[in-house]
Amino acid sequence: MARPHTINWQDNKLYLLDQRKLPISVEYKCCETAEDVADAIKSLLVRGAPAIGAAAAYGLVLAALKSTPETIREDLNRAANLLAGTRPTAVNLFWAIEKMMAAAAEEAEYSAICRRLQQKADEIMELDVESNRAIGRFGAELLPDDARIMTICNAGALATADYGTALGVIRAAKEAGKHVTVYALETRPVLQGARLTAWELMEDGIDVTLICDNMAGAVMAEGKVNAVIAGADRIAANGDTANKIGTYSLAILANWHQIPFYIAAPTSTIDLQIKTGKEIVIEERAAEEVTHIAGHRIAPTGVKVYNPAFDVTPAKLISAIITERGVFEFPYEGKLG
Ligand code: MRU
Repeated sequence: MARPHTINWQDNKLYLLDQRKLPISVEYKCCETAEDVADAIKSLLVRGAPAIGAAAAYGLVLAALKSTPETIREDLNRAANLLAGTRPTAVNLFWAIEKMMAAAAEEAEYSAICRRLQQKADEIMELDVESNRAIGRFGAELLPDDARIMTICNAGALATADYGTALGVIRAAKEAGKHVTVYALETRPVLQGARLTAWELMEDGIDVTLICDNMAGAVMAEGKVNAVIAGADRIAANGDTANKIGTYSLAILANWHQIPFYIAAPTSTIDLQIKTGKEIVIEERAAEEVTHIAGHRIAPTGVKVYNPAFDVTPAKLISAIITERGVFEFPYEGKLG
């Protein structure tokens, strides 16, 4: 059966797979305006760095289609600002918006702008799938024949146009005939590992075992893991990498247990404008994500909460960064451009 796609463009509307509802139900939200898309990104209906970039690209197509020849530039600028203000950490969002606005700037007429934006958004989707396939091929070569992989969050088909980055490597290793087994961390607070990665891998018939985040060290100490692979939201020029909260702890654990720790990401996730991870803005999300699970309160009313959505793993702890252009090893300065 074909994998359900996160991002679907049909008859001038954007249908986004509602990731908040998985794995309980497979439902799509129809977005007709850039505002709909911005809400979807903010609320995590669509999430994952490449997926939010591609969704924002179609958000700009919607803004153009709803606009007029007189107000197109102004409407596009407004939509671009709105979409850019949704989530601060994943650079793919800003990368996609910039590509779209540059494409629009090259056309003079309203209908040509709409056509061009549509083409550009489709291109962003196609490029992401191609990149993920290449990341998969490069990454699979790094894995042993009996690969026992730990992963965090969801860096899969759900987080991208298709195939996935970290999960793309896992898929490619299986397709290459390797024996693959996966330990998925549940990934509190929003449970992308339990709800999305476990579901996505099971749908594909890939062996997956779900563990709580605080079990990672013990599972490594038992010798059950020989590689860790995570995705990325933003990679600085020196290789410091922002990814889902908990990735940094996982990298330290992998280092202690001498297990290779890989980041798999397309080059659209690399931000050469920033030298180190210190410059990455880390999104802080609502306290309810921590005090509640699936709508049920689990902590005392009024408790203080700190909820950073991402952390930064120092480049030194990353054994290699796997991109569609190849595999890079520490030190990363001058290699990621
Ligand atoms: O808050 P999320 O679910 O958008 O966070 C997603 C991640 O941290 C992913 O690992 C990252 O975006 C890479 S997705 C290919």
